Amino acid sequence: MPLHCNGVSLESAARRFGTPLYVYSADHIIGRLTLFERAFRAVPHQVCYAVKANSSLAILKLFADRGAGFDVVSGGELERVLAVDRKTAERVVFSGIGKTAPEMDLALRSGILLFNVESEGELELLSERAAKLRIRARIALRVNPDVFAETHPYISTGMREHKFGIDIRRARAVYRKAGKYLEAAGVSVHIGSQIRNAEPFGAAAQRVAKLIAELRRDGHAIRYMDLGGGLGIEYHADHAFDAEERVRQYAAALVPVAQSVGGVKLLLEPGRFLVAQAGALLTRVLYIKKNGEKNFVIVDAAMNDLLRPALYQAYHEIVPVTPRRAARKIVADVVGPVCESGDFFARDRELPPLRPGDLVAILDAGAYGMSLASNYNSRPRPAEILVTGRRARVIRRRETVNDLIAPEDL
Ligand code: LLP
Repeated sequence: MPLHCNGVSLESAARRFGTPLYVYSADHIIGRLTLFERAFRAVPHQVCYAVKANSSLAILKLFADRGAGFDVVSGGELERVLAVDRKTAERVVFSGIGKTAPEMDLALRSGILLFNVESEGELELLSERAAKLRIRARIALRVNPDVFAETHPYISTGMREHKFGIDIRRARAVYRKAGKYLEAAGVSVHIGSQIRNAEPFGAAAQRVAKLIAELRRDGHAIRYMDLGGGLGIEYHADHAFDAEERVRQYAAALVPVAQSVGGVKLLLEPGRFLVAQAGALLTRVLYIKKNGEKNFVIVDAAMNDLLRPALYQAYHEIVPVTPRRAARKIVADVVGPVCESGDFFARDRELPPLRPGDLVAILDAGAYGMSLASNYNSRPRPAEILVTGRRARVIRRRETVNDLIAPEDL
């Protein structure tokens, strides 16, 4: 049977909206949020969806409407959230190691929930900005717990050699410098992304718990425990994956720690887990070619549309939307039109035979797909559609070359 997204045929969506095309299922996203909420219901908590995973306004709105908050890492992300619903500011945490004064001012004026401060320099600047605007703000230090989590080196963040956070051993001294406009209200941590085992999350939480006890003895009223994001999924179809069980184990590692601390609201910043598997990138086969022994399937999407394989050697399943019956498989590289050898979606992949004009779906592309897309090779970015039940609607029109050159001058 040809692939569908809920009630919508992908073949007809591609004909109607063109390719490359990002397709997302609203029901799937809501389902994941529900699993998350359920897993943590035993403790006071707030899910702050990590906007960077997929920052499309319509997707942010799905979250905002269901009471989720947001983890933002730039003024741009904050503006997106405010554009969806200004009232969600009270559920926003602001992370990132390079916040600028204008970004701080915007966040201070919007009245966000928490600044996750990542260095002493940042603490000084934030304290200055808050005093200047006469706005009191809540802060957490994002500490670096020195916990190893197995994942791709580019997305591991919780060890001392990484640029993120403040060394947990120095944290107490830094909290003392908060100044009168900043209230030390929380502790935060984020150890990395695509972490598939709950154990390192538990270890990091325990280190945070210990620090909270010390900070409370020092007189700080710590009420927020932000344990970041990072819960991974399985990209390989042949790896068993039960989303409900995965989030249950994750919660089982964190909830008892939060309960032992007591008097804290748990903040969680999931991104990938909520949106990755709700999305696919549809692309058409342009050409099939052979160089020596190697087969290449050249498709109309490229690394600028979905960077993960090129940047992290990430694996994504690739499936024909309308499979042919009983044909012999081929082994091929699936590549895009961009002039880089790194422009591939799969290497030496066994695939059903494909012909020019065939539509294929690159799966699990809902997180860090469109949000990492660029205009390299002057390629306009794809359109995005959101499927709700049997209805598909464009949530971002396809870019045009005019959009690309509009800011330029001759
Ligand atoms: N909170 C903070 C402070 C983060 O830095 C991140 C991700 C998250 C939450 C959300 O992590 P998640 O739940 O999505 O794993 N582009 C890479 C992933 C980079 C993640 C960066 N930070 C990829 O495509 O795999």
